Amino acid sequence: TANGLAQTPPMGWNSWNRFACKVDEATIRATADAIASNGMQAAGYRYIVIDDCWHGTRDANGFITEDRARFPGGLKALSDYVHAKGLKFGIYSDAGTKTCGGRPGSQGHEYQDALQYARWGVDYLKYDWCSTGVRNAEEAYALMSDALRASGRAILFSMCEWGNSKPWLWASKIGNMWRTTGDITDKWTGHHGYSWGVTSIADMNEPLWPYAGPGHWNDPDMLEVGNGGMTDTEYRSHFSLWAMMAAPLIAGNDVVAMDAATRAILLNTDVIAVDQDALGIQGHRVWKDGDREVWSKPLSDGGRALLLFNRGDAPATITADWAMLGLPRSVRLQVRDLWTHRELGRRSGRYQAAVPPHGVVMLRLKP
Ligand code: GLA
Repeated sequence: TANGLAQTPPMGWNSWNRFACKVDEATIRATADAIASNGMQAAGYRYIVIDDCWHGTRDANGFITEDRARFPGGLKALSDYVHAKGLKFGIYSDAGTKTCGGRPGSQGHEYQDALQYARWGVDYLKYDWCSTGVRNAEEAYALMSDALRASGRAILFSMCEWGNSKPWLWASKIGNMWRTTGDITDKWTGHHGYSWGVTSIADMNEPLWPYAGPGHWNDPDMLEVGNGGMTDTEYRSHFSLWAMMAAPLIAGNDVVAMDAATRAILLNTDVIAVDQDALGIQGHRVWKDGDREVWSKPLSDGGRALLLFNRGDAPATITADWAMLGLPRSVRLQVRDLWTHRELGRRSGRYQAAVPPHGVVMLRLKP
């Protein structure tokens, strides 16, 4: 997009997956404190985003206000607090009359909402799609995009219409990322009410790889890593798949109280470097046989990130052949294991590994 933001996939934290509508000022301050001090900021996590339910009512002139019971100091002071730590501040609204949580939406107030966000020092807007009736999505998102630009502040625009009207076909000029699916839930697979397990989300997002690039990304929704519904092996797979797909890495757990295993996943800088690679090509599946898959992502050094992925319930041996990566079998590549952080020497032709159930082996191949 013209705003020049998100040259690599956005990284940060959002309140929804862990706190849903129970979000308040104390939670956001404690989260910003944690991210600034636990290594996450240094690893690249920048945006602290308040999702649904921060809203109060509109004032007499139609300007949106914050819920002062939950945010007693107000959003401007909270934004200043986040900025003072060198982090960026994000909020949430909706293209319809009401947000999904029933708060006031932006429909009919786009320009004054964008102006209010700019006054608060907002750096990131997630814009949802509830209560939109017969609105046309492209028109509605373009309108808010124009309003954000007119505010004069650089505001990253995250579009959330769940892939309903194929935003990958029209949204790259309008915003910086677009949801490709319904909501994620903290489960390995399947469809649960209105939401989906991580492997089901990955399957919907994967074929859209040609549409992603610097400034405009497919968004398979925020991370569930650390929320307790999956094993650490499954969370490593979730994080690896998102990095292979150049997805926005928006943590969705309680970063104030995370355990060592969760921390090691979210702070894996080898995996983050794959996500954040400057080439900005979304990786995709290059081979599949039943539950065994090989995914590849071209990197800016001419090498590849490689994922050996075992969806099944039994251990599996998976082989990646250089031909699957579009490389001559004779090429010798330096192999690094991105979860054990070990250099495995130079290999030609193929790489084979045992992969645990629901697990991955993630590698970086360097020329
Ligand atoms: C929708 C979005 C979610 C979240 C909720 C908030 O379901 O897809 O990511 O923002 O609304 O109510």
